[in-house]
Amino acid sequence: MSNQKHVLLCGNWKMNFGPKETQAFLEKLEWNKKSNAQMRIYVPYVSLTTAQNTLEKRGLLGRDTVSIGAQNVHYEKSGAFTGEISALMLTEVGIRHTLVGHSERRQYFNETNETVLKRTVHSLEQGLEVLLCIGETLNERNSNQTESVLTTQLAAILDHATCQAHFGDALHLAYEPVWAIGTGVVATPSQAEQAHSFIREMLHTKLGSEKALKTRILYGGSVSPQNFKDLLACPNIDGGLVGGASLKLDSWHALWNLI
Ligand code: 13P
Repeated sequence: MSNQKHVLLCGNWKMNFGPKETQAFLEKLEWNKKSNAQMRIYVPYVSLTTAQNTLEKRGLLGRDTVSIGAQNVHYEKSGAFTGEISALMLTEVGIRHTLVGHSERRQYFNETNETVLKRTVHSLEQGLEVLLCIGETLNERNSNQTESVLTTQLAAILDHATCQAHFGDALHLAYEPVWAIGTGVVATPSQAEQAHSFIREMLHTKLGSEKALKTRILYGGSVSPQNFKDLLACPNIDGGLVGGASLKLDSWHALWNLI
């Protein structure tokens, strides 16, 4: 692409690929460096170390190559939170990236805007880079609530000093309309661009133009090699957060090669 925007291609493996499949996938990952893009893959906790080790052996681990991240993180450093993982634990195993607020966390695990804020702030304080996910459900879209939902999901984040300080460097956003996730129904480029420009405008109003422009706003929801190019051509879409198509080497390579 001729366009000089800095693109993030992020794969969210969700609850797929334990250590064996992680190693097999990353051993076969074909890498070609791009000066205008970064690749991140968010893998299950138990596969984090294998992912890092496999890439490291191939000389492919790092900011200019591939970064590995977690899919969620708790907001306390340690304590009686059975089943949770803290930011400190992630940094101890060399992880510098995490997703927060994915709609599946909100939908199935009662994640709220309040806990999303706490996880985000804590992660940033511990030096993690956060990709914060927001997006409306089909009912909300159909009742014209998309913008008010996005406003509510971002309100406390935009008001928090720690988040304000990190937007554009360690805090980025993914707009993932819930109705497009895993359904094969992708938002049209104009639907996605409309939401992204609304989000950009919110950032602009609250944080000024420099941070608003530096913050990457990724689109997620049924991204595939067939639709990614048109999405990326939209002025306010800075990359993709990809589920299903990140699990197959051919589609993952194809997405990277479209940038
Ligand atoms: P799909 O690409 O499978 O629709 O998933 C999107 C997603 O939820 C990424 O976080």
